[in-house]
Amino acid sequence: MTITFPTNQDLDPVRLREAFGSFPTGVVAVAAEVDGQLLGLAASSFTSVSLNPPLVSINLAATSKTWPDLRRAEHLGLTVLAHHHGPLCRQLAGPVDQRFTDVAHTVTPEGAVVIDGGLAKFDTTVYREIDAGDHVLVLLELHALDNGSQSLSPLVFHRSQFGSLTQAL
Ligand SMILES: Cc1cc2nc3c(=O)[nH]c(=O)nc-3n(C[C@H](O)[C@H](O)[C@H](O)COP(=O)(O)O)c2cc1C
Repeated sequence: MTITFPTNQDLDPVRLREAFGSFPTGVVAVAAEVDGQLLGLAASSFTSVSLNPPLVSINLAATSKTWPDLRRAEHLGLTVLAHHHGPLCRQLAGPVDQRFTDVAHTVTPEGAVVIDGGLAKFDTTVYREIDAGDHVLVLLELHALDNGSQSLSPLVFHRSQFGSLTQAL
């Protein structure tokens, strides 16, 4: 059987977005307190990278207005969002001044911010930033983790929609 791929002209952003969106992911909140201000965003690009040293990555649009300030944080918090966090996730991707309105969170002494009721939580610092086309690949080094709410089901993002995992029988 011969597979015929469409030509390069078909790699337009709309088709790419659609194809990338076919890959289901979880979502993390990336957040910190910088100069007394809560900053953060939602990222579905979270990936585990290395055990030694412990590294994870997120991939952020180069146009992000939040990242240039957020990256200045001494420490950054990552929270794996739970299935009930859909509205919170939209809020963390919405207007900057409302991202933390009524959001229960915890701030560490180094300024990392984690969201209450999430699954795994990580205390991180920026390890390396790599320009990657119209995005910046950010490697984060882990310094501490809280595996507290592992019994919760994660928030799943697929084809621009939220869902959750159903337990296999
Ligand atoms: C489910 C979900 C996943 C997202 N994942 C990413 C991501 O991985 N990388 C990214 O740059 N933005 C992602 N965003 C968008 C950011 O949360 C945020 O809206 C965007 O960075 C624009 O805000 P900013 O200019 O303050 O950074 C995601 C949004 C949603 C709702």
